[in-house]
Amino acid sequence: MKKIAVFASGSGSNFQSIVDEIDSGTLEADVRLLVCDRPGARAKERAEEAGIPVFSFRAKEYESKEAFEREIIRELEEAGVEFIVLAGYMRLIGPTLLEAFGGRIVNIHPSILPAFPGKDAIGQAFDGGVKVTGVTIHYVDAGMDTGEIIAQEAVTVEEDETRESLQRKIQAVEHRLYPATLRDLFRKKVMGRSL
Ligand code: GRF
Repeated sequence: MKKIAVFASGSGSNFQSIVDEIDSGTLEADVRLLVCDRPGARAKERAEEAGIPVFSFRAKEYESKEAFEREIIRELEEAGVEFIVLAGYMRLIGPTLLEAFGGRIVNIHPSILPAFPGKDAIGQAFDGGVKVTGVTIHYVDAGMDTGEIIAQEAVTVEEDETRESLQRKIQAVEHRLYPATLRDLFRKKVMGRSL
């Protein structure tokens, strides 16, 4: 069973969808650790409710990204983590973590990349007036949402769509697509590196 860590900064609804699928037996993985960079994040409460250990840190208490990533690596190694799942972690992964876990980090992004990378992808798509947007799961490299694409699913923007309704539709796709893609990855059913 793949031993994973989930990294989240906010609500953690994607983290929850992964935990729920593991609990219901539809995803074979063991969440060894939640890594969280925001002390008040709802994701931390979700981890506590699920009995999953949390490593919580504040970036500003470290002198550099390298320093906190070294500490994260120590925690990951101690927990026996093999694979990292980013789920709303609002930081770029630095060279230190990339070197330690290169090719074993994935992310979810709420657009059809390479369109609308970076922050507020749903707002960018809505304001841009596109008729189709969606969700991407990709490997993580040094860039902002630039790594190799693993899976994508389109979401149609209807005539009467609001930003809020679009967000709800995208989240519903995320909560299904992320666990499903991880399931395939861990069974090596989709293209990608050897894990
Ligand atoms: C999701 O929309 C994800 O695509 C993006 O950040 C959001 C996290 O939401 N990377 P949540 O914390 O999982 O609810």
